[in-house]
Amino acid sequence: MPTRLIRSTITAAAITLVAGCASAPVVTVTPPPATARPSAAPTHPNVTGNWVAAVPNTADGTFRRTYFNLTQLGERVTGTVHSTQFFYQVVDTKWDSDGGLAITASMRDLGNERRVIYDVKVVGPDELRFTLRPRADRPPPANPPAALVAHRAPAGEGAMPEKIAVPALHKVRDNGIARTPAMGWNSWNKFAGRVDDSAVRAMADAMASNGMREAGYVYVNIDDTWEGDKRDEQGNITTNKKFPDMKALADYVHSKGLKLGIYSSPGPTTCAGYIGSYGHEAQDARTFAAWGIDYLKYDWCGARMLHDEQDMQGLYQIMGEALLASGRQILYSLCQYGRMEVWKWGADVGGNSWRTTGDIRDAWDSMTRIGFSQDSLAPYAQPGHFNDPDMLEIGNGGMSDVEYRTHMTLWSMLASPLLAGNDLRTMTPSILAILTNREVIAIDQDSAGKQARRAWASADSATMRKEIWTRPLAKGAYAVAAFNRGPAAAEMTIDFAALGVDPRGKTVRDLWAHKKVSLRDGRYTATVPSHGAVLLRVGR
Ligand code: GLA
Repeated sequence: MPTRLIRSTITAAAITLVAGCASAPVVTVTPPPATARPSAAPTHPNVTGNWVAAVPNTADGTFRRTYFNLTQLGERVTGTVHSTQFFYQVVDTKWDSDGGLAITASMRDLGNERRVIYDVKVVGPDELRFTLRPRADRPPPANPPAALVAHRAPAGEGAMPEKIAVPALHKVRDNGIARTPAMGWNSWNKFAGRVDDSAVRAMADAMASNGMREAGYVYVNIDDTWEGDKRDEQGNITTNKKFPDMKALADYVHSKGLKLGIYSSPGPTTCAGYIGSYGHEAQDARTFAAWGIDYLKYDWCGARMLHDEQDMQGLYQIMGEALLASGRQILYSLCQYGRMEVWKWGADVGGNSWRTTGDIRDAWDSMTRIGFSQDSLAPYAQPGHFNDPDMLEIGNGGMSDVEYRTHMTLWSMLASPLLAGNDLRTMTPSILAILTNREVIAIDQDSAGKQARRAWASADSATMRKEIWTRPLAKGAYAVAAFNRGPAAAEMTIDFAALGVDPRGKTVRDLWAHKKVSLRDGRYTATVPSHGAVLLRVGR
């Protein structure tokens, strides 16, 4: 029985062991007589040990594990907490008068401190319950987190691997692909952890039959949560139950004239807490190549547990080299949220694209905050190497069709990868029309690979203003986009000469209306709906 742990709360109580009909003893607690002397200073239960709480991930046979590796000396508890992509050091312990324990743990995360507090309840010698305390600086969550039920784990389980050496920096050879921004689909925005083999096949089927493939969409990309719980005995990365045979899936996607993409991390775990490629980069690149993978999104998350941001470039370089050495042409997509001015070194590590911001959400404020913040990054876009303001949310339901047209317009002006993020089986004809507008896609895919710049903005506040962006295209053509971020429709006049665009002798087309427009005195005036955009092409 857990006498050692029970003692603190019932120190003065008499404990009687009564033999039950089965062999398990039963504890009865007799309250102390009223005259009993007050007990000595309470001794706290000892929580020393490596504890793991394992919560099953939906339908894939893997577990989300949180390890609490604790050492208690008197009142004080030290140790670590390893939870998915986070690895904290315990920095503070507090016992309350009821024997409850609060541990505070802290880590460096992208230049800031990240702190968590767990309230710990001792349930027995082999069970602790950890409840994550909601952050005091945020509104209380609608569904407070359930307690994590933790049991003893073997020593060393859940520990960080040996730190790998960060290589000296050099220029990785250009892989020669992605001369124009990648186009395709990615599972994360719509499916997150629910993506599986059949969903990926269904997206490939849809893409191959609804006109998207012919419009240029080619990559079908599996994001996080495909990975198994453990590597095999040879250290090969494995898939979980949702992906029974990755090679067969790749063969299927290839049979549709499409390419298959996958996801991993330069850290020991991915953002969702699955296995990352840390220390296995070359081996994983070979595995991906053997499966027939054509695209790798490489997401920083778990690397923060062992490395600070100074090491980013080196860790991304390792995989850049590994992909080249794999012998297969694999598009290399960096995802580290635009940290460390990645646009200045993304191409040097072999990256074909690099995320420039945090995650997009299916909402006007998120999409516009990201899209309209890209102006200064224009000089870094070039054939083979593009800024990536994140995947498309078009068709996911959080914005109107007008707003989704603005999303498509802005991303195309930015020479961004166009990775649809919606359910391609169920989208409306108008969403499909937005995604497959070939004249707009031609702007995104222009062979000069130049990114648009903001050429003019009205004096309204940043989130309300009208803006005009221009993008030089191959053969002396231009794209000009007028955006109305304001709450009411507005008349906007594009004065080409003022924008440095010479329309003389060139056709000017409205790429959403699919018609030629006429200028008056070198100007074009259009009514742009609230949150809408007009996109013009000047010259062929
Ligand atoms: C990060 C990335 C997302 C997605 C998730 C998956 O948040 O930025 O695009 O890949 O991880 O866990």
